[in-house]
Amino acid sequence: MSQQAEQGIRIIGDPVLRRKALEVKDFDEGLKQLAMEMYEQMIDADGIGLAAPQVGLSLRFLVVGIPDDEDDMLHLASYANPVILDKAGSCLMEEGCLSIPEVREDVERPERILLRWQNLTGETQEQWFDGLQARVILHEMDHLDGVLFTDRISPTRKLAIKRRLAELQQRV
Ligand code: CO
Repeated sequence: MSQQAEQGIRIIGDPVLRRKALEVKDFDEGLKQLAMEMYEQMIDADGIGLAAPQVGLSLRFLVVGIPDDEDDMLHLASYANPVILDKAGSCLMEEGCLSIPEVREDVERPERILLRWQNLTGETQEQWFDGLQARVILHEMDHLDGVLFTDRISPTRKLAIKRRLAELQQRV
């Protein structure tokens, strides 16, 4: 485990969660190791996505692991330097975040996205995503720009969870 990952998942109030993350430039063994560590932390925490800033690394890198009911498998994937090239539709879905425990709120986001990213060896790839996969990628991409899902909820809901967020931030 790297030093950053050992500290566990960062909670709201930690400045690393508000930083704009830097491009991944080194597609080396270290990046593969980071992917493995992040998969492990995500699964341990029972999450379906995790962004590098959540483990203390200000890097444009994220992992996703969504259980597939059809084949009973957990499909793990990682995305370096992801960019949205196109999007379609919009939908409301309830979200949570490992960095904001016990808070769940509805967030409106695009329904489908055309994503460009680099894989672990640095190759550029492009693909359309929809459903939960698109949702998780968009949520995790926000982390790369220092944005949390609670920034995207209605003013009324923001007020409703204000006390909970303040409690969490005091713990950091
Ligand atoms: Co999150």
